[in-house]
Amino acid sequence: MELRNAVAVVTGANRGFGRHLAAQLVERGAKVYGGARRPETVDVPGVIPLRLDVTDEASIREAARVASDATLLINNAGISTGATLTGGDVAEVRREMETNFFGPLAATRAFAPVIEGNGGGAVLNVLSALSWFHPAGLGSYAASKAATWALSDATREELAPRGITVSALHVGYMDTDMAAGVPADQKVAAADVAAQALYGIETGLPEILADETSRYVKQSLSAAPQPNAD
Ligand SMILES: NC(=O)c1ccc[n+]([C@@H]2O[C@H](COP(=O)([O-])OP(=O)(O)OC[C@H]3O[C@@H](n4cnc5c(N)ncnc54)[C@H](OP(=O)(O)O)[C@@H]3O)[C@@H](O)[C@H]2O)c1
Repeated sequence: MELRNAVAVVTGANRGFGRHLAAQLVERGAKVYGGARRPETVDVPGVIPLRLDVTDEASIREAARVASDATLLINNAGISTGATLTGGDVAEVRREMETNFFGPLAATRAFAPVIEGNGGGAVLNVLSALSWFHPAGLGSYAASKAATWALSDATREELAPRGITVSALHVGYMDTDMAAGVPADQKVAAADVAAQALYGIETGLPEILADETSRYVKQSLSAAPQPNAD
């Protein structure tokens, strides 16, 4: 899709990767609604703040009513709790699934009729190399991203006849608050990943692999699972 005439809704646009996406969309001439739990924290010039908590269905419905000219939804908002699946607090596991899976699902369900009504467009889901690589320490987060990978594939088929393309972005670590504890040499620049994501939307790529880590992990999917540690 052409971004110059797009009307984008970016969830979690107040900081991190979503803020880069929002800023670059404005640079390319799109109209941009910056979704945030606290819209007063959306500070990118030219971005229209939009109250949107992805875990609150009423807020999503209201956002879809306000942004009634939307043609592009970017499901970016996400959390990483660090909960492990058997040892972690199950409330944290559920919170991660609510934000990272049910959030994009609810937003897609609310915005698909809007985008269709505006002549079609696109959805981008911001996923991770951890959609495919599931280490013990990040089991809960990885499960939520794996679920949203499946969501991306299934909704791609469901929405294609309605004129909506669905892309999934996979990436290793980026230099945002979420990966603040990760050494700098293991992170890629969120601004570069945002540029690749927008190129992927423009060209209708179903899957955008934005760094070496995501390409390596995807390529290794057919390998046998790791043996149990002694
Ligand atoms: N950073 C990485 O290394 C990395 C790697 C792969 C994928 N990702 C994915 O990239 C996306 C963006 O993450 P990030 O790196 O930018 O992390 P971040 O810096 O922690 O920012 C997270 C964003 O999500 C928003 N958010 C969280 N819960 C929300 C909710 N319930 N409703 C609306 N907004 C909510 C936050 O808003 P508040 O300010 O209100 O908290 C914030 O804007 C996420 O989906 C993440 O899983 C990140």
